Amino acid sequence: MKKLIAGAVFLAMTAMVLPAGAAEKISLPKGYEKWEKSKEKMVNDKNSLFYGIHYIYLDKKTMTTYKAGGKYPEGSQFVVVFYNIKNEGGKPAKGKKNMVVLMKKDKRQKATGGWLFAGFTPEGKHNATLDPVKTCFECHLKDAAATDFVISKYSDFK
Ligand code: HEC
Repeated sequence: MKKLIAGAVFLAMTAMVLPAGAAEKISLPKGYEKWEKSKEKMVNDKNSLFYGIHYIYLDKKTMTTYKAGGKYPEGSQFVVVFYNIKNEGGKPAKGKKNMVVLMKKDKRQKATGGWLFAGFTPEGKHNATLDPVKTCFECHLKDAAATDFVISKYSDFK
């Protein structure tokens, strides 16, 4: 509990120190590793940004819409963690972590369908060189305009 309070105070302080209008620090949601996790998924196409083995994580609130369909409420979030594919006795197996991506419902992100799209290094540092529109949204727009830009499906989650 003490820890929680200290964390809240720290957050409040950083919010005060940041000058108004400064670029917001984009970070991965805390504790996402404990959210519900998809089965292992593999993309074999080396030209794909999603090449490798990946797992999708989503929190409880997001799961409700994922199951029922429709528009996701503000704050809904998905995290995907990617690993290289390594050869283990002729079978593909999980190699090193190579990327983490985030989608978070944020109505200020008008150019990307009301979702914040962000990529991170394996250590969880924001990779600002990825353009949310060109590197992310165009593909999600093409594949999932009817499902609020969420491509994966609950029926294929577990
Ligand atoms: C070439 C197409 C393509 C591009 C580009 C792309 N994605 Fe995706 N994305 C997908 C596919 C396909 C899935 C579903 C994967 C699955 O079903 O396991 C997905 C799933 C996701 C998910 C899980 C929620 C969902 O939609 O199922 C997140 C989060 C995500 N992508 C973020 C990003 C971010 C951030 C970027 C840019 C750095 C990005 N994506 C670029 C194709 C793309």
